[in-house]
Amino acid sequence: MSGSSLTDDGSFMTRVVTIDGPAGAGKSTVARRLADRLGWRFLDTGALYRVVTLAALRRGVDLTSEAALGELVATLTVSLPPGGVFLDGQDVTQAIRTVEVTRSSRFVADSPSVRRRLNNWQRAFAADHDIVTEGRDQGTLVFPDAFRKYYLTASAEERARRRLAEYQARGESVSFEAVLRDHQERDARDAARALAPMKPADDATIIETTGSTIDQVVARLAEDIQRHLEQSSWGVEGARRLTS
Ligand code: C5P
Repeated sequence: MSGSSLTDDGSFMTRVVTIDGPAGAGKSTVARRLADRLGWRFLDTGALYRVVTLAALRRGVDLTSEAALGELVATLTVSLPPGGVFLDGQDVTQAIRTVEVTRSSRFVADSPSVRRRLNNWQRAFAADHDIVTEGRDQGTLVFPDAFRKYYLTASAEERARRRLAEYQARGESVSFEAVLRDHQERDARDAARALAPMKPADDATIIETTGSTIDQVVARLAEDIQRHLEQSSWGVEGARRLTS
């Protein structure tokens, strides 16, 4: 019965840790490291919105047409093996990270039919794995009963610096100002969206990461999760895995 717990009605329940927050707050790196530490799966929900965006761009789908996006998302086969992203059997791990995909993702993120489909996909992913998931709406909407919820923030400048370093590591040429502007626009849209707006869940712990290293943030969250695992019905089994 590893990684799941028998509930009163006899069903199994997996554990979910959610990490939400604005662009460039370090969610992916922190979530991936935490998942490794726990022996759980990592779910990057931004990657799903990016895959749909990439498919729309490649197929010349009208990004402003809700009907066209709804049809598109119903035809895609997406898989997230550890460390990779596959679209219809093709490795698109790098292709979804370009500036063009990032900029165009807003249309896809605003589409109700895309969100509905991706929410179902995300819940299905969690049905048979314990997961650490990151995105904008994980604690509020997709997993309201998550075991632990966090909301990661950092100053706009620090977030832009972190994202710029990622672009530069991939050889993409983009300015600090452009990344900062892009984040500001995306964050404003993500927060103002009527459907699944980006915001901390009422029961989320806010983690301010400006000036902290990734290691420090991971250690802080790991400690908090360990404490809650020890107190929970799942007992110390998960907590032991975390410290080993
Ligand atoms: O996190 P990432 O930058 O990869 O996300 C790409 C875009 O997907 C974001 O700008 C956001 O608009 C959207 N997104 C979302 N809901 C999520 C995850 C990402 O709307 N759960």
